[in-house]
Amino acid sequence: MAQLGTPVIWALSWLVFGVLSSPPPAWEQRLERSLNGKWRLSNSNRSLLLPAEVPGCVHSALQQQGYIQDPYFRFNDLLYQWIALDNWTYTNTFTVPPQMRVKQKALLILHGVDTVASISLNGVALGTTDDMFRRYDFPVRDLLSDGDNVLEVGFISPVLYASERRKAHSSYAVPPECPPDVQKGQCHVNFIRKEQSSFSWDWGPSFPTVGLWKGVRLEAFDVLQLIQLSSLPLYDRSGSRWRLRVELLVDAVQTLDSKVELSVPGLASKRTLPVRFLQGRLQYNFTVDINQSREVKLWWPNGHGDQPFYLLAVRGFLGKFMILNKEIKVFFRTVELIQDPVVGSPGLSFYFRVNGRPVFLKGSNWIPAHSFQDQVTPASLRSLLQSAADANMNALRVWGGGVYEQDLFYDICDQLGIMVWQDFMFACAMYPTDDDFIQTVREEVTQQVRRLKSHPSIIVWSGNNENEAALATNWFSIPASLKHVYIKDYVTLYVNNIRRIVQEEDPSRPFLVSSPTNGAESEQEGWVAANPYDPRYGDVHFYSYVHDCWDWRSFPRTRFASEYGFQSWPSFSTLQPVSVQEDWSYGSDFTSHRQHHQEGNQQMLQQAALHFILPNSTDPLKRFTDSLYITQVMQAECVKTQTEFYRRSRSEIVEGKGHTMGALYWQLNDIWQAPSWSSIEFGGKWKMLHYFAQHFFATVLPVGFEDDDTLFIYAVSDLSRNLKLRAVVTVYAWSDLDSVCTLTSNLLQVPGGSAVAIFRQSVAALLAGCGRCTRLTCLLTFHLQNEDGIQQGPTNRHFLCKPKDAQGLQRPNITAKVREDESGFAVTLQSAAVAPFVWLDVGNVPGRFSSNGFLMVTRNATVSFEAWRPTSAAELSRSLTVTTLMDLY
Ligand SMILES: *[C@@H]1O[C@H](CO)[C@@H](O)[C@H](O)[C@H]1NC(C)=O
Ligand SMILES: *[C@@H]1O[C@H](CO)[C@@H](O)[C@H](O)[C@H]1NC(C)=O
Ligand SMILES: *[C@@H]1O[C@H](CO)[C@@H](O)[C@H](O)[C@H]1NC(C)=O
Ligand SMILES: *[C@@H]1O[C@H](CO)[C@@H](O)[C@H](O)[C@H]1NC(C)=O
Ligand SMILES: *[C@@H]1O[C@H](CO)[C@@H](O)[C@H](O)[C@H]1NC(C)=O
Ligand SMILES: *[C@@H]1O[C@H](CO)[C@@H](O)[C@H](O)[C@H]1NC(C)=O
Ligand SMILES: *[C@@H]1O[C@H](CO)[C@@H](O)[C@H](O)[C@H]1NC(C)=O
Repeated sequence: MAQLGTPVIWALSWLVFGVLSSPPPAWEQRLERSLNGKWRLSNSNRSLLLPAEVPGCVHSALQQQGYIQDPYFRFNDLLYQWIALDNWTYTNTFTVPPQMRVKQKALLILHGVDTVASISLNGVALGTTDDMFRRYDFPVRDLLSDGDNVLEVGFISPVLYASERRKAHSSYAVPPECPPDVQKGQCHVNFIRKEQSSFSWDWGPSFPTVGLWKGVRLEAFDVLQLIQLSSLPLYDRSGSRWRLRVELLVDAVQTLDSKVELSVPGLASKRTLPVRFLQGRLQYNFTVDINQSREVKLWWPNGHGDQPFYLLAVRGFLGKFMILNKEIKVFFRTVELIQDPVVGSPGLSFYFRVNGRPVFLKGSNWIPAHSFQDQVTPASLRSLLQSAADANMNALRVWGGGVYEQDLFYDICDQLGIMVWQDFMFACAMYPTDDDFIQTVREEVTQQVRRLKSHPSIIVWSGNNENEAALATNWFSIPASLKHVYIKDYVTLYVNNIRRIVQEEDPSRPFLVSSPTNGAESEQEGWVAANPYDPRYGDVHFYSYVHDCWDWRSFPRTRFASEYGFQSWPSFSTLQPVSVQEDWSYGSDFTSHRQHHQEGNQQMLQQAALHFILPNSTDPLKRFTDSLYITQVMQAECVKTQTEFYRRSRSEIVEGKGHTMGALYWQLNDIWQAPSWSSIEFGGKWKMLHYFAQHFFATVLPVGFEDDDTLFIYAVSDLSRNLKLRAVVTVYAWSDLDSVCTLTSNLLQVPGGSAVAIFRQSVAALLAGCGRCTRLTCLLTFHLQNEDGIQQGPTNRHFLCKPKDAQGLQRPNITAKVREDESGFAVTLQSAAVAPFVWLDVGNVPGRFSSNGFLMVTRNATVSFEAWRPTSAAELSRSLTVTTLMDLY
C-alpha cells in the first residue's frame, strides 16, 4: 500500500553480498523506484483536478478528496454513474537519479491497470492496455530525462469501450447484451477484460472502476531481472519420490553464462548447474530431486492436518558475483480429481483426493470483498478467511465473475489449509473470440497461472462460471441454427486456449472447463454436455426459492454441490450507516433498491412464511428488524438442511445418485450492505448462517431427517480414523425445559470418512413410547457419544412440526448479563422456557460470539464474545439485544 504524503522512497537492492568484501561494482546494483503514492487525476474536460492515490481508483480518489459521499450510501450508486462514463487521466511527475539512467535497461512495470488506457512517458506513447488482470511493462531507459519525468495514463470509460467493442462485433451478438433491470447495471461487460461484477450483479452494485488498482514501479538493471519465480512439487508415485519443478522468468540484458544453485536446505536437497541466460525475456525450467522424500511433511486441508512448508533458495552467479537471490515457500501435497465408474450407479464419481486421501470439500464461494479493490485491507481479508476456517470450512471457490485475488489471499489460504477452487474470470455470458481478445486472455492466463501455481491451496483451475450451462440450457435464447457458432467460440476460448496454457504451465492440478460441468462426460459430449446439471456427473449449482427448503427431497443428490443457497438481509447495524430512517421498512424504496435479485425480498418472506409467523409488530422499526431477523433464520435453516443432506449423502447411492463429496454454499462474503446469499455481512459480521455453518461443517456431525415418517440419524465423520458411536435422542415439550424422555441407540462402527445411519425409528412409535408428546407439542435434540459416553461433535435438533404450528411455546423472558474475566467477555443467559433461534446482537461492536442463533433448552447458558476491537462489559451490555422466535408473536 502506498504511504500517504511521504516522499518517494528509494530502494536500492544490493544483489552482491557475502561473496565480496569490497563494495560491488556499479553494474551489479539493481535499482528500484516505486511510483506508488500521490498522482494527479483529471476528467476529460478537466473540470475536476485532484490528487489520487496509487494503487487506487477514481471513485476512491473522489471520495477521499470530498468530491463525492460514500458511494455505498443509499442510492449513490445511481447518482455516481457519471464517473464511469467519463474519461480519466492519471499523471505522475517524478525524477530519477543519474545512476538509474545509466543502467543497461529500465522497465516501467504496472501491476494492474483498470482497464483500457494509453500510457505515455514524457510525451512519448509507450503502449496501450486492455486487461485489468495483466501486468504490463515497458522498456523506458532511453525516455528517462534528468529533470522531471511525466508519466501519463489516459483511461477511456470502460462502459463506452465495452459498448464500442460490442458495436464493432457486428457479425453476431454475444449475449447477454445487458444485465436485468433490477440490477441497475451497465451493458456488454463480456467485451472487456475487467471484473465482470463491476458492471453490477445480483448481489452487487454497478461501479465500473477506473484506475491503477495495483502498484507501479521503475526497475533498472545492468545484467538481469527476475520477473517471476514459481515452484511446483511433483510426486512420482512409482518411485515414491518428490521432485520440485522450479521456473524462472528472467529478463536478461545480454547472453550470460552463469551458474544457478537451487536448494531446499530443510530437505538436504541441492542442485547446481550451468545456465546460459539468453538476451530478452524467457522462462527457464529446472527440476530438483528431493533427497529426503520420505521425510517430507505434507500440507493438509483444514481439519485434516497441518500446513508445514520448506524454503527454496534460488541463487545465480556470474563468476563470483551473485546476480540472482530469492527465497520462496514450498509446500508439498498432491491433488487428484477422481472421475471413475461408481458401483451401482451410471455416471462417474467426482471427488478430490489430497495426499491420497478422499476429502469432502466443505465451504463456500468467494466474491470480491469490495467494489473498490484498493479498499480491501489485509485485516479484512484475514478476518474473512479466518472466519471461514473457524466455521470448519476447508474450501472456497474463487468465483469467475470477480478478480484473481491478491497474493495475500492465497498466502492466508495456504496458512489456514483452505483449498481454493480457482475459476478463470469469465461468468454467466458468451464471450467474443476476436484475435486481440484471445491474445490478451492468453497473456492474462499465462501470467496468472505463473503467479499463483506455487500455492498449495489452489487445488483446481476452472475455465468459467456457468457458461457451459448457459449454452447447454440456452439462457440467452440462441436459435438452434446458430448454436454451433457459440459452441465453437466456447471451445476456442476455454479448451483450445485457456486449457492448453494451463496444462502446459501446471501439470500438478486438475483443470475443469466450467462449473457446473459434467467433467469427463462433458468432454465426451464435445465440451458442452446436454445437461451440465446432471447429478450423476461432475458438479451442480442448484437454486430453488419456491420449494419448501426443509424438505430434503427437493435437493439434487449430486456428486458435488459447488453452489446453492438462499438470501437473507444483513443486520440493522450494518444497514444503518448507509441509510436513513425513512428507509427502515421492508417495503421502502431503499429496501427494494438494494435487492438486485428479481422478487428476492418477496421470496425470502414466502420461504420464511412456510415455517414461521411473519413479523407484524405495530412498531415500524421493530417490524423491520424482526423482518431482518426472520430472513436470517430462514436462510440459516435452509442452508443447514441442504448442507446436512449433502454431507449424509457421501457414502450412499440412492437411485444411482449420491456419493456427494462437496458442499460449497453460495456465498461467503458481501461486496456492500445489501440482501444477498452471504453468510458474512459487509464489514465482517457473522449472519446466523455462519454460526450454523460452524456446526453443520463440524468434523463429526449427527444429521437427523425424516423419510416416510421414519426418523433417521446419520453419523457423519470426516476423520481418518474409525469411531464407535451411538446416538442419544432427547425429547422435549415446547412448553417445558425439563426433557420428556431420552432414547439411545446401539454402538456402531463409523469408519473414517463416511456417513452411517445410526438411529432409525418411526416417529409415531417414538412419540408413543415417550408418553405425553405429539408432533405439535414436542421436538428432539440429539448428539453422538463414543463408547466412553463422551459426546462427539455438536448437539443437533429436529423439529417435528413447523415452529408456527408448535403448541406450548412460551415467552422465554431471557435475561442476559455480560461480564469480563481472564478469558474475555462472557454472556450468561437465563431462560424461563424453550427458546428457538436465540440471537445475540451487539450492534456495531465488531466481534463474534462462540455460538448464536441456537435452540435454548436449558435454564442457563453461557456464550463468550470475541471482540475485534477494544471494548468493555459496559459497552457490550448497552449494545446487547436478545431476540428469539417468540419476539415475533
Ligand atoms: C465536464 O464534465 C463533467 C463530468 O462529466 C460535467 O459534469 C461538466 O458539465 C463538464 N463541464 C463542461 C464545462 O463541459
Ligand atoms: C472519451 O474518450 C472517447 C475516445 O476518445 C471519446 O469518444 C469520448 O467522447 C470521450 N468521453 C468524454 C466524456 O469526453
Ligand atoms: C542427498 O543427501 C546426501 C546425504 O546427506 C548427500 O550426500 C547428497 O549430496 C544429497 N544430494 C543432494 C542432491 O542434495
Ligand atoms: C518452461 O516451461 C514452460 C511452461 O511452464 C514452457 O512454456 C517453456 O517453453 C519451458 N521452457 C523451457 C526452456 O523449457
Ligand atoms: C399480527 O398477527 C396476529 C396473529 O396472526 C394478528 O392477530 C394481528 O392482528 C396482527 N397484527 C397486525 C398489526 O397485523
Ligand atoms: C414471561 O413473562 C410474562 C410477563 O411477565 C409472563 O406472563 C410469562 O409467564 C413469562 N414466561 C414464562 C415462561 O415464565
Ligand atoms: C442458573 O442460574 C441461576 C442464577 O444465577 C442459579 O441460581 C441456578 O443455580 C443456575 N442453574 C443451574 C442449573 O446452573
